[in-house]
Amino acid sequence: MCGIVGYTGPRQASRILVEGLKRLEYRGYDSAGIAVQRPADAGSPLAVIKRKGKIAELRSAVPKDLPGTCGIGHTRWATHGGVTDANAHPHCDASGKVAVVHNGIIENHVALRETLEKEGAVFKSETDSEVIAHLVAFYYKGDLEEALRAALRHLTGTYGIACIHSDEPGRIVGARNGSPLVVGVGSGEMFLASDVTAMLAHTRQVVYLNDREVVSMSADDFRIADLEENAVDPKIDRIEWDLEEIEKEGFACYMEKEIFEQAESVPRALSGRVDRENGTAKLGGLNLTRKELHAIERVRVIAAGTSWHAGLVGAYILESLARVPVVAELASELRYRNPVVEPNTLYLAVSQSGETADTLFAMREVQRRGATVLGICNVVGSTIARESDGGIYVHSGPEIAVASTKAFTSQLAAFYLLGLLLARTHDLSHAEGVRFIKQLDAIPEAIKGALATRDKVQAIAKKYARSGDWLFLGRGILYPIALEGALKLKEISYAHAEGCGAGEMKHGTIALVDAETPSVFLVPSGHLREKTISNIKEIKARGGPVIAVADSDDREVESLADDFIGVPPVDALFQPFTQIVPLQMLAYFVALELGRDVDQPRNLAKSVTVE
Ligand code: AGP
Repeated sequence: MCGIVGYTGPRQASRILVEGLKRLEYRGYDSAGIAVQRPADAGSPLAVIKRKGKIAELRSAVPKDLPGTCGIGHTRWATHGGVTDANAHPHCDASGKVAVVHNGIIENHVALRETLEKEGAVFKSETDSEVIAHLVAFYYKGDLEEALRAALRHLTGTYGIACIHSDEPGRIVGARNGSPLVVGVGSGEMFLASDVTAMLAHTRQVVYLNDREVVSMSADDFRIADLEENAVDPKIDRIEWDLEEIEKEGFACYMEKEIFEQAESVPRALSGRVDRENGTAKLGGLNLTRKELHAIERVRVIAAGTSWHAGLVGAYILESLARVPVVAELASELRYRNPVVEPNTLYLAVSQSGETADTLFAMREVQRRGATVLGICNVVGSTIARESDGGIYVHSGPEIAVASTKAFTSQLAAFYLLGLLLARTHDLSHAEGVRFIKQLDAIPEAIKGALATRDKVQAIAKKYARSGDWLFLGRGILYPIALEGALKLKEISYAHAEGCGAGEMKHGTIALVDAETPSVFLVPSGHLREKTISNIKEIKARGGPVIAVADSDDREVESLADDFIGVPPVDALFQPFTQIVPLQMLAYFVALELGRDVDQPRNLAKSVTVE
């Protein structure tokens, strides 16, 4: 949600900032801007360029030869104030010497604004962020770090901030509380960004700031201290992602690329984590002894959106394999519910980005009450990954498209491994463990087979693209897949879609069925198959068109459905992998057909770091 980038060094800052913002655009994309120190002219106002719209608008507004080697930039996802040039960041003080970019929400901005206005500040935007620029200017006495620290003392809420002053050439000061900020250490140059992707083309050495830390950097030096001014010893991490991994590699958009990467990303999540000899899983990062694993009596998953759907599948896997009760909780609900943390309960915070505010705050809430929380995250070094007590990285590689696809199947892989490990510390036999691993081994090939339905799915998408309402129906472990299929379609096509338990349908949702409303059925191969077939017949009897996703050899379902997507047969417990893939493609092709912006759908952002 919003992206920050900063650069100081010998090179032309504007180019690096705009290029960095382009890479961050997936975090928010309703407006963008940069502020650059004018080189020869310390003391004069900063060059500030802001534009409503995507980064392309900003890029064409920035002069190619804009001088200056130190600056900051921002791409916005509006929270306070509409989408306008004025509300875009950076925000400046009245003299134009201070520029600030901010992610997060300043909760007490109204009171601060009133006070600052009484002191003579004139506000140019409706944002909460602008108060920071005026506060910094108010406290500035020749030391930007000091001024920012003084300003921070007045702020309530969350922030990732980068700030420059024209009287301090080459200096950037940043602070973090609840919104990620990373320092990039180059050779004779420094970077500051909300996300490593903004600086990956220039450096792989990074330092993640923690909450309540302030960084001050120049081209060849940086120092970090907490709010109480205690120096922090920086831990330099190395980023292993390749730049190519975040390029589109010939695909029309990131979502398409990410869908088609799943035959490789799922094995990456499983790689090195299977103990064939003992029929179990090896998950070193959990930081739990066998005894502690054995003592787990119940599990609670905390997550949002697609990660929550992965958690619902995970609940099914863990319950049926390890026989421990599991509840998947919506983080946004849990955090305000005064949750009861029971003993011997393991919490799992599931998040692709590792930065989702709802998940992070819910995790902190249960940690405060003594819970052990493991993170299931994709982004290495993200806040949830760092603050959890241990966890599993899903290694799906950078996921850029707003609609999550490959991270979802990698999260599923993590749940299958965890389910196996827990089950083997409980009642699952060695032989059953070995059999389970064999089935898991077959999944990457099955995903390839599911991806091969591409042309069929595209034809179905064309046929139904104009439908304004869709139903997605599944039972058992495929119920969360129905929810996820509906979410994918809503997010990127803007069609109304509802995910529903196929057995629950008759209790109300069936009233929506008519000839214009396609019902997408996810047909399980196990004991719920017959029940699901009955539900298909109920829809057909009411004139509703049925699209069925089922095992490719299921002739009965093929003959019943108006449109049939046959996926490779796998054991019923593993069907989420094969069934979600065509649903992701269906959403993608419908959105394409409707001319939607697939990677950056309206009103959304990749990582939701506000409430
Ligand atoms: C998925 O397609 C969505 N964009 C969204 O629901 C997402 O899964 C949710 O915001 C949680 O994000 P996280 O996994 O990064 O925590």
